[in-house]
Amino acid sequence: MTRDCRASRRTSGWAPDRIPDQSGRLAVVTGANSGIGYVTARELARRGAHVVLACRSHERGRDAVERLRAEVPGARTELRLLDLADLKSVRAFAEGWSQDRVDLLVNNAGVAMVPFSRTTDGFESQFGVNHLGTFALTGLLMPRLLAAAHPRVVTVSSEGQRFARFDMANLNAEHRYRAAFAYVRSKRANLYFAMELQRRADAAGLRLRSMAVAPGLTRSNVLTGGANSARGRAYRLLTRLLLRIAFRPTPDGARTTLYASTVPDLPGGSYVVPDGLLQLRGEPVLRSRERAIRDSVTAHRLWVLSEQLTGVRYAL
Ligand SMILES: NC(=O)c1ccc[n+]([C@@H]2O[C@H](COP(=O)([O-])OP(=O)(O)OC[C@H]3O[C@@H](n4cnc5c(N)ncnc54)[C@H](OP(=O)(O)O)[C@@H]3O)[C@@H](O)[C@H]2O)c1
Repeated sequence: MTRDCRASRRTSGWAPDRIPDQSGRLAVVTGANSGIGYVTARELARRGAHVVLACRSHERGRDAVERLRAEVPGARTELRLLDLADLKSVRAFAEGWSQDRVDLLVNNAGVAMVPFSRTTDGFESQFGVNHLGTFALTGLLMPRLLAAAHPRVVTVSSEGQRFARFDMANLNAEHRYRAAFAYVRSKRANLYFAMELQRRADAAGLRLRSMAVAPGLTRSNVLTGGANSARGRAYRLLTRLLLRIAFRPTPDGARTTLYASTVPDLPGGSYVVPDGLLQLRGEPVLRSRERAIRDSVTAHRLWVLSEQLTGVRYAL
């Protein structure tokens, strides 16, 4: 039996109704106005957590808060604006944080396979939003995370990362841009980041736990681009059809994130994926046979580069 199979046995049967009471926990979920982020925020709030929905659009964020409060009466939620494509916005979010701590940061927001564009700071948008924005946000919130008794950071990657060719010389589309390759590279960067964060926390003797997750193919706005899409009508119609046929319902896709966010004794450095065929569907399991998890050399190089590009230095 492989290690993964053993892990699969260990976690089988887990479902969100097993989430323990989250009262007293202060959570931030990025990209919480739609898809996996919305379900994550809603289920954390349902269990009593105070959840900050960190969204780039005031209107979409406000609608999400209203919907969530209607679905979970008495939910403790609030909206805070955050645009990961703009480091000024990321800094403003962290500097405007008024509570003493953050117990849980769910780095969920992302864009996928978008046409070429650059962020406000000049980064290729998938690398810039999915990785650099997330890297900067986590670093700037680190003092607040370290003020929590049991801080946890959950970063949403994708099993698509397994197909990434991690070309350090083209991370920022210096030479060429192909949307799908840039996406899976940014998701590999998410995995390197989550694992390197754990290594650094361990080396510093901190209680912080960092995990990565892959949701599996999930119905959401991620391929259609939601309200902000620059894609054509035909593309969006075809993608919607594909989502209906091949992708599973959004709550199923949020399972790995909720698992990593709430299972009390889950070790830092875990990578949680769905256990079905090709890890695309099924219950959350820990995937340990993943080269990227152990590739501390590339993860270190990416970390140093990310500090240079964002100007955010970690307090560890
Ligand atoms: N769905 C899948 O099959 C799948 C598979 C593997 C991994 N994932 C990952 O799962 C995560 C959640 O995606 P999803 O599937 O739930 O898609 P989604 O419904 O499109 O949600 C993505 C969220 O990220 C937000 N976002 C995008 N750019 C942002 C920015 N610059 N600043 C702040 N927020 C931003 C979006 O806001 P707007 O609504 O304003 O656009 C939205 O709230 C992503 O990291 C994605 O890569 C998804």
